[in-house]
Amino acid sequence: MFDFDKIIDREGTDSVKWDLRKNVFGNANVLPMWVADMDFETPEFVTKAVIERAKHAVYGYSFFSDRYFETLIAWLKRRHNWEVEKDWIVFSPGIVTAVKAAVLAYSAEGDGVIVQPPVYFPFFDAIKINKRKQLTNQLLYLDQTYKIDFEDLAKKAKQAKMILISSPHNPVSRCWTKEELLLLGEICIKNEVIIISDEIHADLILPGYKHIPIASLSDELAEITVTCMAPSKTFNVAGLFNSSIIIKNSKLRERFVNVLKSLHLVHSNIFAMTASEAAYAEGDQWVDEMMTYVKGNFDLLERYFKTELPFLSLAKPEATYLAWIDFSKTGLSNKKIRKMLVDEAGLGLSPGTVFGEGGSGFMRMNVGCPRSVVKEALEKLSSVSW
Ligand SMILES: Cc1ncc(COP(=O)(O)O)c(C=O)c1O
Repeated sequence: MFDFDKIIDREGTDSVKWDLRKNVFGNANVLPMWVADMDFETPEFVTKAVIERAKHAVYGYSFFSDRYFETLIAWLKRRHNWEVEKDWIVFSPGIVTAVKAAVLAYSAEGDGVIVQPPVYFPFFDAIKINKRKQLTNQLLYLDQTYKIDFEDLAKKAKQAKMILISSPHNPVSRCWTKEELLLLGEICIKNEVIIISDEIHADLILPGYKHIPIASLSDELAEITVTCMAPSKTFNVAGLFNSSIIIKNSKLRERFVNVLKSLHLVHSNIFAMTASEAAYAEGDQWVDEMMTYVKGNFDLLERYFKTELPFLSLAKPEATYLAWIDFSKTGLSNKKIRKMLVDEAGLGLSPGTVFGEGGSGFMRMNVGCPRSVVKEALEKLSSVSW
């Protein structure tokens, strides 16, 4: 039904991914496959709703309507089989804001916060900038897939106030299973560790996998979990900044809200609210088709690496539109790999090293883009004198 092959010219739109290439890569012409937004058109049911709202030319203060909450609650039930009540839902502009607010709300200077690298790098900053202590529970890479080191987690949990999890996990494309989430949850319950579950990629699940919100697994887990959800990745509206933080435990919720209130971060904006509501009301088919298309992009990468570039391999894709590519068999340093990608291939990827321990030797490629772009990227990769 939808055309994901369509090329949208994003240059000159103040796009971080496209218009900051010179600053980031030193080359304004690299094919940008780094920042995690997509090059697909935001679906028409979203743009239409925003345009309709814009036509009413008074953009005054607005609030989240009951309709908005009902739409979100229905989405969470329909897509993730999770029953959420309106009172549990709190606004945050972005998810990074929410993660940082949670660190402030639930820990003090010097307290231990667990992270599981390689992971979305602003988690490290949330800990560092607030002078908390990073406890590293590095993921294990075995047979082209990542696993949680539960033995190490059980040790680290003894010294921790909280854990920041990425579920599904950016950048390694894991969609955590019920068993893994229950084991992680058990350790957190036992050690009274609060779980901040960043589920911004929850809707970006490849066919054959199922996202499970950790808070949906038991009442006990719901009581210690702060779940961060947003339509931003799912519907390519990351520039609108409207997220929903779901906290069942009223005491935890109050502490979180107080941090945001201290900066008066209490209002969304009307276009973001309108877009989110339209997305959650009408987005099922679009997101299903989009992830089937993205699966085609991942398949293309895997096939191409096997036949044309056998020294490259991909962590098994389960979720997100982010391909985590292992370059270690090239035997080159991270610096050299990046230089060859930029200078020889003309490709702008995210270096694995920014995602912390375990990122060395890897590069992250964003395949949330038309198939022809992925093909072009592969040709560029092949043109390098590896
Ligand atoms: C795991 C994860 N969390 C949060 C974000 C960004 O969230 P926001 O832009 O809403 O702050 C990203 C974007 O790449 C992400 O991958």
